[in-house]
Amino acid sequence: MRTTTTTQILISALAGTAAATPLATEPRQAAIECPPIPSPYPTYSQLPLQKSLPDPFLPLKYTTNDNAGSSSTFAKDVMEGRGQHRVQTPEEWYKCRQPEILQLLQEYQYGYYPDHSQEKVEATHSGNTVNIAVTAGGKTGKFKATLSLPSGASSSKPVPVVINIGGMQNAPYLSAGIAVVGFDYTSVAADSNSKSGAFWDVYKGRDIGVLTAWAWGFHRTLDGLNMTVPEIDPTRVGVTGCSRLGKGALAAGLFDKRITVTMPMSSGVQGMGPYRYHGLSGQDETLENSKSGAGWWSNSKLGTFVNHAENLPYDAHTIAAAIAPRALIIDQGTGDQFTDSKGTAIVAYPAAKAVYDWLGAGDKIGMSVRGGGHCDNSGFSSILPFVQKVFFGTATTKNFNDLGTYKSPMTTAFPWATAVPKAS
Ligand SMILES: *[C@@H]1O[C@H](CO)[C@@H](O)[C@H](O)[C@H]1NC(C)=O
Repeated sequence: MRTTTTTQILISALAGTAAATPLATEPRQAAIECPPIPSPYPTYSQLPLQKSLPDPFLPLKYTTNDNAGSSSTFAKDVMEGRGQHRVQTPEEWYKCRQPEILQLLQEYQYGYYPDHSQEKVEATHSGNTVNIAVTAGGKTGKFKATLSLPSGASSSKPVPVVINIGGMQNAPYLSAGIAVVGFDYTSVAADSNSKSGAFWDVYKGRDIGVLTAWAWGFHRTLDGLNMTVPEIDPTRVGVTGCSRLGKGALAAGLFDKRITVTMPMSSGVQGMGPYRYHGLSGQDETLENSKSGAGWWSNSKLGTFVNHAENLPYDAHTIAAAIAPRALIIDQGTGDQFTDSKGTAIVAYPAAKAVYDWLGAGDKIGMSVRGGGHCDNSGFSSILPFVQKVFFGTATTKNFNDLGTYKSPMTTAFPWATAVPKAS
């Protein structure tokens, strides 16, 4: 680049134009061009079988089998970080790859999040209740949220908030000066195929998963808090829930940049549990059994990957990585009989952290491996120091990169991480 500049200056000097137009001759960052997202999206048979976690740095266009040519090692190359046209810089990640991941996750799993710019949100606040009404396309859905403020919260000293579904351990959060707000997720979207609740009152007929509907509930609750509760600071916001509701909390963190810290608890598959390496602990929750047991959590497209989960061009670590550089703290209990705590801790978490590290945000992702079982309330106090660090900058000596009894990452699950693109 320097050579080009010198040449250009020489040329302009020779042409007698001196340096009259410095803007035109100064070295410029080459404009970043994003590879187009394949349209239509590739089906499972057009994607390579990847037994280890997909390379988050490889754009979808270069992941498809069309790129294999006569290579017999295409899938292996892709898995090991030798795919062509990987993202090279954080700028490229934020401009191209992160938005692409958000798109492909909606296409393959979540269904398309409704266009918020077409919504009108109204809210009223009385006592501990915030009533929320959302209108779009002439239809209205209503639900309410319940508020607990810590002592000392005031409009001149607004406090951060954790919004939860399904309840949480409130007391330590309130003592720490954090408001706790809950809403009845079933009144936003029933945990069934019934398509009832405020979300479906507005969006019935769309191929959207219930996890996305719950995410929308978190976001509209935040809108309502911002409009009617001046004691809450809407720029410091956590979202949480456990098990299926942890999957919903992860979606809430993914789809709204206003969420400061995402706190999925014992979340399992479609949360922070990987589709691959699903049997390391727990009852072996998989794409197949989650789709047959609660197919409504995701859109219908995900069903086309049943028995082909290893052709998915993403996994739990990709979802987590797309949240960067915003904070993410992941809870799992070693005694969890249901979800794959070990797979989350030694596979999904460290793979996502490789991306956070590369983006210079390594301290924004944490893993909390605790004792106890599925949705044990102690998980909330275990992660609290991380949340306090995010909200208040409070120092903590607790190491949120400690995998506890699971010890160390399974690096063979994400070989591409040893070949991360040089950020220069
Ligand atoms: C709160 O509402 C104001 C006014 O509509 C808006 O400008 C701001 O972005 C909102 N903040 C959040 C965090 O939603």
